[in-house]
Amino acid sequence: MITERWSSRLGFLLAATGAAVGLGNIWRFSAVVGQNGGGAYLVPYLIAAFACAVPLLVLELAIGRHLRTDVISAFESAKSGYAPLGWLVVGGVFLILSYYLVLAGWVLGFLFSWLVGSQVTFAPFTDGWLPVGYFVVVTVLTGGVVSLGVRGGIERLARIVMPTVFVVLAALALYAATLPGWDRAATFLFTPRFEALADLGLWSVAFGQAFFSLSVGQGIMLTYGSYLDEGTTLLRSALVITVADIAAAVTAGLVIFPIVFSFGLEPTLGTELAFTTLPAAFATMPLGRVVAVAFFGLLFFAALSSAVSLLEVGVAATANTTGYGRQRATALLTGGVLLAGLPSALSYSPVDLAFAGRPVLDLVDESVGTFALPISALLIVYAFVWQHEFSRVQADLGRLYPLVRYALPAVLAIATGAKAAGVARPAWRLLVG
Ligand code: PHE
Ligand code: NA
Repeated sequence: MITERWSSRLGFLLAATGAAVGLGNIWRFSAVVGQNGGGAYLVPYLIAAFACAVPLLVLELAIGRHLRTDVISAFESAKSGYAPLGWLVVGGVFLILSYYLVLAGWVLGFLFSWLVGSQVTFAPFTDGWLPVGYFVVVTVLTGGVVSLGVRGGIERLARIVMPTVFVVLAALALYAATLPGWDRAATFLFTPRFEALADLGLWSVAFGQAFFSLSVGQGIMLTYGSYLDEGTTLLRSALVITVADIAAAVTAGLVIFPIVFSFGLEPTLGTELAFTTLPAAFATMPLGRVVAVAFFGLLFFAALSSAVSLLEVGVAATANTTGYGRQRATALLTGGVLLAGLPSALSYSPVDLAFAGRPVLDLVDESVGTFALPISALLIVYAFVWQHEFSRVQADLGRLYPLVRYALPAVLAIATGAKAAGVARPAWRLLVG
């Protein structure tokens, strides 16, 4: 039974928004949008967010608040013997955290380098051991925040970070509006292409990104919901979190793409977009160093508050199921994630750790996006909606209930199936020759 609580509704909203807004909004959103034709992608993304992610968010918050327990124990209360499904979900979150911290480490490295004026770019940075060092630093920092507890650590961090992140993001967008590439960026981002809606792959990417960005279906909101008091309206909270998260992503797009277009860079670069192209532009633009420090600073603190939420899922589950105190559970998991993240960290280091020619980090990110996210979400719907209908949870869902029960699993199964087929086909061809 969990006894910790958020100090207020605002405290909860800030913490939950802190969990949502992160590298997913800035690094991943711009990479995905750039690779999927800009505005073409926006319509499926908005539908994924409002029709599927919001109901799932309400579901998770409702389960957490009703059961007042961690992910693993919650699965066990849905049906005895289901705890292993909870382990799977917690394991998925742990996997996300393992490479998320590597990326957050890069951001800290970039922030530091631009702060002291050495203006590092991606290739020389990842040719050395520094990224591995920054990964360790960020991991220990994340553990430090979580060990301070729900109010004293997670909520306090969010209270400082979230307002700052939005102010800096808005300031950067105002700056970007003065760049010559602004018009092209706005057109690129906001011109919908309805014929693209027939592309199933685009939908799958949009769902993956919506679930990743909103931290939904992974037990994070379930855990944060267990610290929530009775009075809070869940649907309204879910909408606030969703709108804030989308606003952050779109604003970040309005910072990144004007820079991309003003400096003749490629929007389709993907993962490297924020780390390769932008520093090149920062190095030549007026006030570039200030912009770089603001950008990487914002990105780092957004990433830290998301990493904290990912670690909290495992810490709550470990503390609750073993009876360990918060400190001990945090130490244990922080140590574990240092080991688990090492292959990802080493894949962008002098060792260039790779599998089948691809950096391990990229493979982990893809398998998380393709499989871990939707499978965890499906497990949650299966256990808490299909197997056991908690009447309080059902009441909290209200009219969203049929969406969660029927539409969501159907859509997720189709999208994941299509993705799996897309992965299986080349693998099969490789085998057969
Ligand atoms: N939502 C966070 C982001 O956008 C990170 C995250 C992803 C958290 C997936 C949990 C699950 O960066
Ligand atoms: Na996000």
